Amino acid sequence: MNVRFAIASDLHIALPETIDFNANRFHLTQLSIPALEVVLQHLSTLNLDFLLLPGDLTQDGEKVNHRWLQKKLATLPYPVYVIPGNHDVPSLTGNDTTIAFTDFPHYYQQFGYENTNKLDYTCEIAKGLQLVALNSNQFNAQGKQLGCLRENQLIWLEETLSHLQDKLIFLMIHHNVIEHLPQQSDHVLGQRYMLDNASDLLTILEKYQVKFIFTGHLHIQDIANFNNIYEITTGSLITYPHPYRILELKDNQLIIESHRITQLPEMENLADFSQKWTCDRSFPFMITILTSPPLNLPLTEAKKYAPLLRNFWADIAHGDKLFNFPQLPADINQYFQQFGAIDSDGKPQLIDNNTKINLS
Ligand SMILES: [Fe+2]
Ligand SMILES: [Fe+2]
Repeated sequence: MNVRFAIASDLHIALPETIDFNANRFHLTQLSIPALEVVLQHLSTLNLDFLLLPGDLTQDGEKVNHRWLQKKLATLPYPVYVIPGNHDVPSLTGNDTTIAFTDFPHYYQQFGYENTNKLDYTCEIAKGLQLVALNSNQFNAQGKQLGCLRENQLIWLEETLSHLQDKLIFLMIHHNVIEHLPQQSDHVLGQRYMLDNASDLLTILEKYQVKFIFTGHLHIQDIANFNNIYEITTGSLITYPHPYRILELKDNQLIIESHRITQLPEMENLADFSQKWTCDRSFPFMITILTSPPLNLPLTEAKKYAPLLRNFWADIAHGDKLFNFPQLPADINQYFQQFGAIDSDGKPQLIDNNTKINLS
């Protein structure tokens, strides 16, 4: 098998007239279209077999933004496969400007959703390679958006995988299945990025020896491993460091390479600007981390330490960083060191951006 493909995640496409400048502080939404254009330009030189887009395709599910992306993807010379992110289907019913949950497949019929009655699909994307794409957005009885899989999806998945035992499987889903941050499932800031019933999904993936999961949502570059299952999460094109991945299946390995958009015609110093933008907005975010479990620091202490951690989130988003804050009390320093690119024995393991994983 010799296959070359790319992943770009969390495009958050927003046409200028739709931009909500009050939205998420780390996002550079106004650059979503130029950023995608630069990536597509690079990808056009690579003779790709396909492109994966693991969700958050649009700013907030706007019809015009979905339509713009649908048209753009239709011009590409290679197949594209998508899955909805929480921002793509923000409500069950939609409204004048945003799509309804069940409208999503209709916009992406050419990009995986041949069957527009379902939000999950599977298809052979190269000889011997099968994509299983799962929608992880649901709504409870009150209309609140959740990140989980329904029981019928788990049944469908198991049934599907039982017929694909001779294929290599790629699973694509927006929410995180394996933790990318220490105790992510329990942390006030991290848990909403996890699939609520991740362990049910992992049990099925282990049973059918599915080894590769591709996700987005967290806007960081990270590769996490659990019982020989790898979750490759790709950062957002509109947040620092504006990464995307180019991968190859060759010599019984998955070879992963990462690239970053460092400049745009609209912004030549994107890399520096965006890193500073993230660091400048990190204070309230770090205060929340410092005052929440498990640290539970008093606010006065948190305010003292937050400036020392100014680069922390930008470094997490970048991936492959080791942390040491000797100015912090030892126990707090130890807490932040765990977020570094280390293995379970604490040894450096720089696999977030560029690595090779054996297929078996
Ligand atoms: Fe996102
Ligand atoms: Fe998301």
